Amino acid sequence: MLFRVARSRDGGAISHYDLYKVDVKRGMTVLDALFQIQSYMDPSLAFRYSCRGAVCGSCAMLINKVPRLACRTQVLELASSKMELKPFLALTELPQGWNPETEVLVEPLPNLPILKDLVVDMTPFFNALKTLELWTTPTEGDTPRKQSPEDRRLIDRYVNCILCGVCYGSCPVNAENKDYLGPAALAKSWRFYQDTRVEDRERYLEAALSPNGAPLCDLVMNCVRVCPKGVAPGGAIRKIKEIKP
Ligand code: SF4
Ligand code: FES
Repeated sequence: MLFRVARSRDGGAISHYDLYKVDVKRGMTVLDALFQIQSYMDPSLAFRYSCRGAVCGSCAMLINKVPRLACRTQVLELASSKMELKPFLALTELPQGWNPETEVLVEPLPNLPILKDLVVDMTPFFNALKTLELWTTPTEGDTPRKQSPEDRRLIDRYVNCILCGVCYGSCPVNAENKDYLGPAALAKSWRFYQDTRVEDRERYLEAALSPNGAPLCDLVMNCVRVCPKGVAPGGAIRKIKEIKP
């Protein structure tokens, strides 16, 4: 199978696409294909990965115009796993000559600066978490806090986030507005607001409602469709907006 892979030697923008013929076997993921390309055809190809098992969140990229984890995307299942997303430029601009029937298209995750080839700079994504201070600070003498199974269920979905940025790369609002904090940060705000063990929970709701947060979300729900962990950030944002429209 042919893989058309976006290249950018010096970062900034895609400079061209290279075409590689990969020997695809049953069970092979897009990440496996990239390894084959890097090992046997082109050692200069840059991409990011770590766990290879959908845990670390580092292999997010645009595959056939859908943001996905490369290690979780089976090459032979791509044809049957199409996804309807609200379009924006990175999802609609097709490289010249791409034949979706015979080629797999691999590009860097949209909405983040390209550092090299498929590697993007995640700083804006992580800065959103920093800006909202999405953590708790233990105090001196703190003891473990119990939580009932019912209360835990309120946050079950949200603690699964692996901070891969797939939702950020799928969001038309992030595409238009570089200041928008993005779906993952807002879902995490909701997670802390809902966590009964956390003191000062209102702080997290207020953070999510800051001008570059939930008020900018158009509830498009691309993030819900693409999230590989079922976090459904758009659902959390909807709840935030319902509390303070
Ligand atoms: S909400 Fe989902 S898509 Fe977004 S960073 Fe977390 S795991 Fe990735
Ligand atoms: S390599 Fe860790 S999530 Fe894909």
